[in-house]
Amino acid sequence: MTDTTIAPGSVALITGGTGGFGRALAALLREREVTVVLADLDTEANRQTAEGLGAHFVGLDVTDRAANAAVVASVEAEHGRLDAAFLNAGIAGNSRDTLDVDEFLHVVDVDLFGVVYGTEAALPALRRAGGGSIVVTASLAGLAPVATDPGYSVAKGGAIAFVRSLAPRLVGDGITMSAICPGFADTAIIDPLREEFAAADFPVLSADEVASAMLAAWAGAEPGAAYVVQPGVGAVPYKFKGVPAARTASGETAVVPQALMPPSLR
Ligand SMILES: NC(=O)c1ccc[n+]([C@@H]2O[C@H](COP(=O)([O-])OP(=O)(O)OC[C@H]3O[C@@H](n4cnc5c(N)ncnc54)[C@H](O)[C@@H]3O)[C@@H](O)[C@H]2O)c1
Repeated sequence: MTDTTIAPGSVALITGGTGGFGRALAALLREREVTVVLADLDTEANRQTAEGLGAHFVGLDVTDRAANAAVVASVEAEHGRLDAAFLNAGIAGNSRDTLDVDEFLHVVDVDLFGVVYGTEAALPALRRAGGGSIVVTASLAGLAPVATDPGYSVAKGGAIAFVRSLAPRLVGDGITMSAICPGFADTAIIDPLREEFAAADFPVLSADEVASAMLAAWAGAEPGAAYVVQPGVGAVPYKFKGVPAARTASGETAVVPQALMPPSLR
């Protein structure tokens, strides 16, 4: 990632902001004098967490489409602009051996549709700011299958596909959209598995390592990139293989019709 300077006084919104990655990122951003707004489920504990970090708090359930727009409107009203949206709220499923479709749908609602709604809400504000960044916290689970949690894998894979699909047409607006794909990291989300990791001596990332990658993505991600973050590896862009192109009757690589490209990319 190419590092560019994040200007002090910039305004960043982090959904799921009072969780492990959100807190670590908020601390890094406050060190850079960024105005930080943490959006998370509205509880007294979450409000206090934000206050302790010198960040603002706003209650948000990311599955509520209208509420996402209202949060961005409140950020612009109170802080004048939005420069970066970290769409980071997420949950994992718990039913490891059964296909629980209700749970599956809920995970997809939070981890995928929360990202779609957050993007819809943030884009107009980022355009008004003259450009900015959207950094989506996806997961390695979006790149590799997770036998114990298919809903999580679908949601994170969908989030990565969403970022890759949308990012190219935002470049012209000066908006960089990218995804972060951490392996297992030491936050509350792995509490149900924590003892098993320890017993297997399996390395997990620290929240700070992931937050550094999120910060670097704001500062200089490649549009549409999905950065894998793994212990001992750091943050590296995932190399997608691509798909076989169609061939014409004469064996040439077929050119995709212009109508399949958004007008901004023709
Ligand atoms: N920790 C890991 O191993 C790991 C690995 C890869 C990806 N991730 C992803 O990182 C992101 C952050 O998770 P974390 O590891 O900090 O875990 P965490 O549980 O500490 O934080 C998740 C936060 O999201 C919030 N949240 C949950 N549902 C919400 C909703 N409907 N609306 C708004 N906020 C909601 C929670 O209140 C919590 O503060 C998630 O998207 C998670 O899937 C985590």
